[in-house]
Amino acid sequence: MEVESNKQNKITNNHRLAIFASGTGSNAAKIIDYFKNNTHIVIALIVSNKKEAGVLKIAEQNNIPTLIIEKENFFKGNAYVNDLEKHTITFIVLAGFLWKVPQQLINSFPNKIINIHPALLPKYGGKGMYGHFVHQAVIQNKEKQSGITIHFVNEKYDEGKHIFQATCNVNENDTPEILAKKIQLLEHKHFPEQIEKILANTL
Ligand code: GRF
Repeated sequence: MEVESNKQNKITNNHRLAIFASGTGSNAAKIIDYFKNNTHIVIALIVSNKKEAGVLKIAEQNNIPTLIIEKENFFKGNAYVNDLEKHTITFIVLAGFLWKVPQQLINSFPNKIINIHPALLPKYGGKGMYGHFVHQAVIQNKEKQSGITIHFVNEKYDEGKHIFQATCNVNENDTPEILAKKIQLLEHKHFPEQIEKILANTL
């Protein structure tokens, strides 16, 4: 059931975002910075499954509430839907979140959960394909190009509908670290802008 404040958010076209992240949070930092003076798009919650994740410090510095989630509750409980409702979250951004998203959460946020993946999906996606492993595989396969994919999240890893891709060249001498830097630049440049565009089309 929809809570009253969510209805109000829809009427006024306000968006309250939760960013799910478990890593250093460089993308979360860029997103927070990009929307810091935006009164319609608010980063309202940072969710992490790691107590020591760098993203939690970033949340603290920006006075954004945090929620630490546990596996048992996430997958076998109510997927923290109640907590998200308490914060009147309207949209979810995954930025370095490695757990699969449970069906219950997908049902509560239909077409309102997006993810960023550091490769050109459908290649180099799926379970275990994250961070260094992605870039290593791309280089091993002598790909000439890699990039980023922003996509909707469904119940399968990295398989939701694509929203946006950007590419970069992979040079012969690129190491996974060099490629990671190129990809990170693309992510930081495009992710906040794409979120803004997606939200403009989401009521
Ligand atoms: C990014 O490369 C993103 O594509 C992937 O996880 C990484 C998160 O990096 N899903 P950061 O924590 O935002 O620096």
